[in-house]
Amino acid sequence: MAKTPSFSCTACGAVHSKWSGRCDACGAWNTIVEEAPLSAGPGKALGAAKGKGVALSDLAGSEPPPPRTRSGLDELDRVLGGGLVPASAILVGGDPGIGKSTLLLQAAASFARAGLPAIYVSGEEASAQVRMRAQRLGLGDAAVRLAAETNLRDILTTLDAERPALAVIDSIQTMWLDTVESAPGSVAQVRAAAHELVSFAKRRGTAVILVGHVTKDGQIAGPRVVEHMVDTVLYFEGERGHQFRILRAVKNRFGPADEIGVFEMTGDGLAEVANPSALFLSDRDRATPGSVVFAGIEGTRPVLAELQALVAPSPLAQPRRTVVGLDGGRLAMILAVLEARCGIPFTGLDVYLNVAGGLRVTEPAADLAVAAALLSSREDVALPQDLVVFGEISLSGALRPVGQTENRLKEARKLGFSGALAPAGSKTGTEGGMTVREMPTLAAFVGDTFGAG
Ligand code: TYD
Ligand code: MG
Repeated sequence: MAKTPSFSCTACGAVHSKWSGRCDACGAWNTIVEEAPLSAGPGKALGAAKGKGVALSDLAGSEPPPPRTRSGLDELDRVLGGGLVPASAILVGGDPGIGKSTLLLQAAASFARAGLPAIYVSGEEASAQVRMRAQRLGLGDAAVRLAAETNLRDILTTLDAERPALAVIDSIQTMWLDTVESAPGSVAQVRAAAHELVSFAKRRGTAVILVGHVTKDGQIAGPRVVEHMVDTVLYFEGERGHQFRILRAVKNRFGPADEIGVFEMTGDGLAEVANPSALFLSDRDRATPGSVVFAGIEGTRPVLAELQALVAPSPLAQPRRTVVGLDGGRLAMILAVLEARCGIPFTGLDVYLNVAGGLRVTEPAADLAVAAALLSSREDVALPQDLVVFGEISLSGALRPVGQTENRLKEARKLGFSGALAPAGSKTGTEGGMTVREMPTLAAFVGDTFGAG
């Protein structure tokens, strides 16, 4: 049977029968590359020969929760869902240079100190380099064993013999299997290597952490290619100019997804940030037009974040809409609702919107805070400095209550805020010390605060 070439997307792993400039599956440009032809299998149906059957079991019955080991790095343990689960495979993705190796070296050392034998395999740095970094980070005494190797067959033989409780593979894109013909970093190699490591984790009860670089061009397969194979997917993100780093769980078979851990990159490695709200709100010493504090929830934890908007006359025929840390589509929707339901146009105006501190906000609960920031900048009226805002905006212009109102208010009060703006019908509960103003519609809020609408 003739082997047909196949093409796959290095961003999402989708397989295509022919090359094209843009991947239909994920929309990325220039990420499709030719793969070594898949060896055509036997090419016939299973036929009449019987398999040996599989054992079936009932849904009923009690399973004990998986045992977990805590590293002592609370921010990391939280994101993992309460600690490291044996026999689990974890992918840590992130841009090159964001601090993945630093984080995982610190994590491996913490787990080693908590009693888990740990092995750290670097395919990118020499052992001496890793050792030097460890010493600089004050981890020299931790019982982490190092190897600098990229041949996965050799690595697996060692892991099989050593049976560590934790193995860190940095990075999956540098690993190669001699059974796969394509180059290291190709979709086929990355997939096969991840598959071997995940089966090793399940077979031997070792927790395996894979590092994956997020790649911008199509030469190297990105971490999304292996997301579906692992139990837990964490992304390590942050703005390059900021020292804050956020570890975000986007998939977790053993805990809540959407949980975040906040770190700060210092001269001595990554430091945990136990109170992110205080950090994201630092240097707000006076009320400024365009600045609004959003009371958000990240995972199981309330986090206050400052939204900053700048609305200014535009010299361009098509004014700019620039968003950092929020969804651009959501901004477009809020602008449309402001125009259609409140009669406030933004034509001819540039709109810049930013979440301070490098946080990324995905909750629709931020809608009202976004609208408030936009209006505050447009009208050049500062909102009270001790006010937090939350609420979802519907296309009709109505404000919808959001979940965990009480937690949001509690966090705001803890950080010294005394007022909140929320949708009518929010279950504000009994949180004392906060004056909550409830608004039924966006137009009501505009009329109340800006005297227009
Ligand atoms: P690294 O962990 O090597 O990134 P990745 O593995 O994601 O590619 O981190 C690299 C950056 O972190 C580098 O630019 C220097 C910075 N850094 C510090 O600021 N302080 C430190 O203590 C360490 C180890 C790194
Ligand atoms: Mg690295």
